[in-house]
Amino acid sequence: MPELIPVLDSEDIHRMTAAMAERLSSDYEGKEVLLVGVLKGAFLFLADLVRLISIPVKIDFVRASSYGSGTETKGCVQLETHRDIDVAGKHVLIVEDIVDTGLTLQCMVSHFQSLGAASVKVCTLLDKKARRRVPLEADYVCHAVDDGFLVGYGLDYDESYRELPGIYHLKF
Ligand code: IMP
Ligand code: MG
Repeated sequence: MPELIPVLDSEDIHRMTAAMAERLSSDYEGKEVLLVGVLKGAFLFLADLVRLISIPVKIDFVRASSYGSGTETKGCVQLETHRDIDVAGKHVLIVEDIVDTGLTLQCMVSHFQSLGAASVKVCTLLDKKARRRVPLEADYVCHAVDDGFLVGYGLDYDESYRELPGIYHLKF
């Protein structure tokens, strides 16, 4: 059985999310903002974040698949939306659980830019900078982490562990 080593508990996550919500509420005040959560990993972070944001926002989701059941990205990502998201003229903020190689977000940022968004920025709970393979910087980062595979609070390994309230390092 793999070992779960605690990285962040639910209080840490709440504190970081509240600080991020305050920052976003101020940076996006007066703008038409569309938060786009990346399924499935970001579902809890997005749900907690919007309840702490004090400006009106709209919410949509996109699904990116490239991972299968391994822990490595397999190259190009496929994007799926339940319908065409109308982003024209809107300030799009992509909400991610974790940025790893950056490939997922690179595809997504250019996708929304090509659809005529007024701006496209990225907000992530976790940032694994050391593993970046493309020059992509998240605009808003709650917490930087070292290499290692993380699970919990939405993040999975082969669809398990998403329900854990904290974040753990999964050690095989
Ligand atoms: P990227 O395209 O390599 O940046 O992959 C980002 C996506 O891979 C994230 O949205 C996660 O869904 C997944 N991912 C990357 N690292 C981890 C991890 O440590 N634990 C769980 N999922 C991860
Ligand atoms: Mg994800």
